[in-house]
Amino acid sequence: MEVVIVDAPEVGGALVAGAIAALIDRQPAATLGLATGSSPLPVYADLARRHREEELSFARARAFLLDEYVGLPAGHPQSYRAFIARELESHVDFGDGAVQAPDVSGDGPDLLAACAAYDAAIAGAGGVDLQLLGIGGDGHIGFNEPGSSLGSRTRLKTLTEDTRRDNARFFGSPDEVPRHVVTQGIGTILDARHLVLVAFGTAKASAVAAAVEGPVSAMVPASALQLHPHATVVVDEPAAALLELSGYYRETWAAKPPWQGL
Ligand code: GLP
Repeated sequence: MEVVIVDAPEVGGALVAGAIAALIDRQPAATLGLATGSSPLPVYADLARRHREEELSFARARAFLLDEYVGLPAGHPQSYRAFIARELESHVDFGDGAVQAPDVSGDGPDLLAACAAYDAAIAGAGGVDLQLLGIGGDGHIGFNEPGSSLGSRTRLKTLTEDTRRDNARFFGSPDEVPRHVVTQGIGTILDARHLVLVAFGTAKASAVAAAVEGPVSAMVPASALQLHPHATVVVDEPAAALLELSGYYRETWAAKPPWQGL
């Protein structure tokens, strides 16, 4: 796993956007995995800038969202589908239908079938080339809360009270945050060819340290990144504050041959 400590979220955003731009340059029909939450916003802002100023085009690319709330009315501004439309899609040039989210419109067997169909759609697209991830304060990725199987696939999950409280800032109150979600499983996420996790701010420091340097455990879902052959963690100084090997990560990054990229 490579850990990159940056001076500010905008620097991390530009770094990750650069890796996405390089991927699209090599492979215009690349498949991206998109995350929501505030952490990826600097990445999306820089991708929008590159589209505007540097002709970065997503016209042949595809994308799959990590997760979605269950039970929000279609088009709700806090649905993750609406979030991605607002923060990324509306600023770039994805083709119609190129960005997909889990279908949460059904119930019971229909919902189960939609989860299986989502995993099949990702596989059918040739798998995800680069999966962007944030991390929850409890170490969750996507909406895989602590206790999630490290082999899990896309499925229905129940949010913890802590996560609902964290995400209440986007809603009127914690009560308005849906209790249920559909999320790509940890096994689904690990199938992507490159995982890039971004985390900024003190509130993420203990989750980042547990994920990067703690034992691999279902109690810290992001620790599953340790199992992946190509995982990159981009953090600012506050989010890196509890990392024991931060000196080594800085040295490694400073000495990295430029041809290696992320
Ligand atoms: C939600 C999302 C996660 C995200 C997390 C952290 O739970 N499902 O994908 O990583 O929030 O969000 P933020 O980046 O706003 O701290």
